[in-house]
Amino acid sequence: MSRILLLNGPNLNLLGTRQPEIYGADTLPQIEARCAERAAGLGFDLTARQSNHEGALVDAIHDARSDCAGIVLNAGAYTHTSIALRDAIASVALPTVEVHLSNIHARERFRHRSHIAPVAIGQISGFGPLGYLLALDALAAHIEGATG
Ligand code: DQA
Repeated sequence: MSRILLLNGPNLNLLGTRQPEIYGADTLPQIEARCAERAAGLGFDLTARQSNHEGALVDAIHDARSDCAGIVLNAGAYTHTSIALRDAIASVALPTVEVHLSNIHARERFRHRSHIAPVAIGQISGFGPLGYLLALDALAAHIEGATG
């Protein structure tokens, strides 16, 4: 069975207690469990990883080359700052869907720019945890279309 990497960046390990008025009450393990179920329903295995460190996220993207068909990525604040993550996505050439719980375009100006967006197949922003499931649906459809 093909595998998808669900990769979450800095501070997303604190979901559930972190600014719940913005990010909701669900914890990351709860979201990961729902994503694993959704992925299974779509015919994919899921590897879920989270790191607060930019280099570890780059390593996780590189590792995905060996066993993953695509990536769902919430890079957190690194979305807005990290050329290294953008380069990693471009380097591995795995289809990647960018996810944000909040609508980054309706928030502070510094969140409007994403370095990930130009190398992602698409961006889902503003639908809370549902966004991860939508991203899996979109990624699976893309992979199936790409592989025939
Ligand atoms: C976020 C949005 C980012 O601007 C922020 O730094 C995060 C979470 C989101 O999921 O809405 O950490 O990626």
